[in-house]
Amino acid sequence: MRRTRVLEALNSAQARDAVLIKGWVRTRRDGKGLSFLEINDGSCLKNLQVIVDAATPAALILETVTTGAAVEIEGALVASPGKNQQWEVHASALRLLGGADPDTYPLQKKRHSDEFLRAIAHLRPRTNKYGALFRIRSETAFAVHQFFRQRGFHHLHAPIITGSDCEGAGEMFRVTTLPFSPPPDAAERRPDVTDDFFGKEANLTVSGQLEAELFACALGNVYTFGPTFRAENSNTPRHAAEFWMIEPEMAFADLQDDMDLGEDLVHSLVQHVLAACAADLELFARFVDADLMANLRTIAEASYVRMPYSEAIAVLQRSGKAFQFPVDYGVDLQTEHERYLTEEYCKKPVMVHDYPKAIKSFYMRLNDDGETVAAMDLLVPRIGELIGGSQREERLEVLERRLGEFGLRPEDYWWYLDIRRFGTVPHAGFGLGFERFLMMVTGVTNIRDVIPFPRTPKHLEF
Ligand code: 4AD
Ligand code: MG
Repeated sequence: MRRTRVLEALNSAQARDAVLIKGWVRTRRDGKGLSFLEINDGSCLKNLQVIVDAATPAALILETVTTGAAVEIEGALVASPGKNQQWEVHASALRLLGGADPDTYPLQKKRHSDEFLRAIAHLRPRTNKYGALFRIRSETAFAVHQFFRQRGFHHLHAPIITGSDCEGAGEMFRVTTLPFSPPPDAAERRPDVTDDFFGKEANLTVSGQLEAELFACALGNVYTFGPTFRAENSNTPRHAAEFWMIEPEMAFADLQDDMDLGEDLVHSLVQHVLAACAADLELFARFVDADLMANLRTIAEASYVRMPYSEAIAVLQRSGKAFQFPVDYGVDLQTEHERYLTEEYCKKPVMVHDYPKAIKSFYMRLNDDGETVAAMDLLVPRIGELIGGSQREERLEVLERRLGEFGLRPEDYWWYLDIRRFGTVPHAGFGLGFERFLMMVTGVTNIRDVIPFPRTPKHLEF
């Protein structure tokens, strides 16, 4: 018999004489002559109720069927008299696939703290909250590909190992096959990178942007969606050492087009999640953030404020708020500033654009004022920066000068400069942090709880 998934059973249009269900026991409750099992197989948030009659052979192994055990059930799918579900299963056979010792199985029927569940990240997807979260994550990833596909973007697999530093910020993880320590007879010798696997310094990528630019200047519109790595030693609820980024890049596009695409993408992803993950989202609205649905509707529908950096600074200075980091023209916006702008001042997402060149990256297009660059950040309530992007510098001489100002060597970027030598075009793109998006959409406040196995300073379990 083919296995019926719990979701399929719960959505069945009619009763069925024989079904085969496989899953994990969430609870067992024993009543007079009947036992009630709640079975979950990860296909949806809801459990399937299975009733075992003490008079049937199925009841013989009930003792071993404890919370967390994996079981296989044959039985009939029948209309349930209970008010919580339309269908239930009356078991004719029950088999234990894998027991779970009740004395040591860490997930019991009560609410566990997020901190506790982080320490058992291998088991937390078996809870309602994390099951829902990782189904939403999966569905959102699909929606990303659908969004770009519908708009004619090509998906690019950017390399994970790189020989360049996209952001020029130097927060990179080294990739090497050299021994950890030099051999004893060569205590003084420092390892030579020419002996290393690639014969040069190699790192995990911090962004697929530069490669995306190369491909945009060939395939038109492209996007990457992959893991990126940053060795920022900042233990914040919004930073992970390994996170996923969505990076579209468009040829023949300027900063306005870039902001339009960012707004369309966020609208579309939130709308998709609202429609496709309603049951899972409801859990977050009930237990995590009471304002979630109202906020998501605003984010899905409102048109976002667009505000030059200079105006954002003026707004912050007028706010009368005692910020921890003082505000002055030229400073980088801190999370407290970002949150004030989006949560209190605009009361919806805001795109801040045209930042001073000194606080942004070398590749951003220099504006005619010679002082600011065509950059934009999308700030959203509770998170702060969700997107960072820009129009790229497409003028060879300007880009060479900018590299110099950042202390970068043009020869290391010969291929990036070639794109400006041969058929250069205005182009623009951005990066959206996938985990930050998931935090926004679920109300979860710690990035460690929206990624299956978080990597943060001094943490590399699982
Ligand atoms: O603003 P960032 O650093 O921009 C770039 O990397 C550009 N190269 C993107 C581009 O234009 N193609 O990062 C983009 C986004 C941020 O807005 C944030 O959402 C997320 O990536 N992000 C992080 N998310 C989790 N942990 C971290 N350590 C992150 N650093 C950035
Ligand atoms: Mg940024």
